[in-house]
Amino acid sequence: MLQKMTLDVVRKLADDECDDASAFALKTVSFLPVEHRMHDGRSIVIRNMNPNETDLYHSLYDQGFGLDEWPTKRFFVERCLRIGHNFVVEEKTTGNRIALVNLMSSVYARSRSSQLCDIIFAIRRESTGMRYGTEFPGIFAWIAHRMGFTGVHTDCVIISPASLRVCYGNGLIATGVIPRSIYFADQGWVDTVLLYSRLDRIMKEPEVTAKI
Ligand SMILES: CC(C)(COP(=O)(O)OP(=O)(O)OC[C@H]1O[C@@H](n2cnc3c(N)ncnc32)[C@H](O)[C@@H]1OP(=O)(O)O)[C@@H](O)C(=O)NCCC(=O)NCCS
Repeated sequence: MLQKMTLDVVRKLADDECDDASAFALKTVSFLPVEHRMHDGRSIVIRNMNPNETDLYHSLYDQGFGLDEWPTKRFFVERCLRIGHNFVVEEKTTGNRIALVNLMSSVYARSRSSQLCDIIFAIRRESTGMRYGTEFPGIFAWIAHRMGFTGVHTDCVIISPASLRVCYGNGLIATGVIPRSIYFADQGWVDTVLLYSRLDRIMKEPEVTAKI
């Protein structure tokens, strides 16, 4: 039988799980940075995140990126930042940071050496609605494929039409539903759809893949 837990209890359980608070180095991907011209003509650069930029995840959105899906900041740091690869997308001419991306083994696979990845996008509020969300998955699928992943298995909350359209629009297919999967401070627990695709079906190579 499902047990009902308050958010405070969930947060405490999550933090209890995180027993390693030591400093760590961000992983880097050797073939980055790469450059790409977007549909609107803007050139973007995708690079490895610097260690002093990790707090951007939390300042990007009012509540802090990941708070809804990862119950505490510590849990997010331990289970995403430390384990995964973190990237910054910035506009080439201005250097403005458009988005942060975390790429790691999918939690829906059964081991950390899985060939299935999850790719989490946080697009700066001012840059949403400009079709970046639609274009980024293909490029990051290419990056993930080059890193050795073969597929993406992710989740998407059913209350985010933009995220759902980005996933379905990029060819991901639904593989299931998790009821009451993610907590939103203002809406409570919401369901997620699980989505999968082979990377080679959706990936798109950036224009300038030589080191810039
Ligand atoms: C979700 C997110 C990635 C979408 O990226 P985006 O660049 O804003 O989205 P796009 O401009 O590419 O639009 C994608 C689609 O969603 C639709 N859309 C955008 N905002 C919408 C809204 N508020 N309501 C309904 N549909 C919306 C667009 O019309 C488009 O649909 P189409 O392909 O049928 O034309 C981005 O808003 C974001 O980073 N949000 C915060 C973090 C987050 O929720 N991440 C989820 C992924 S882990």
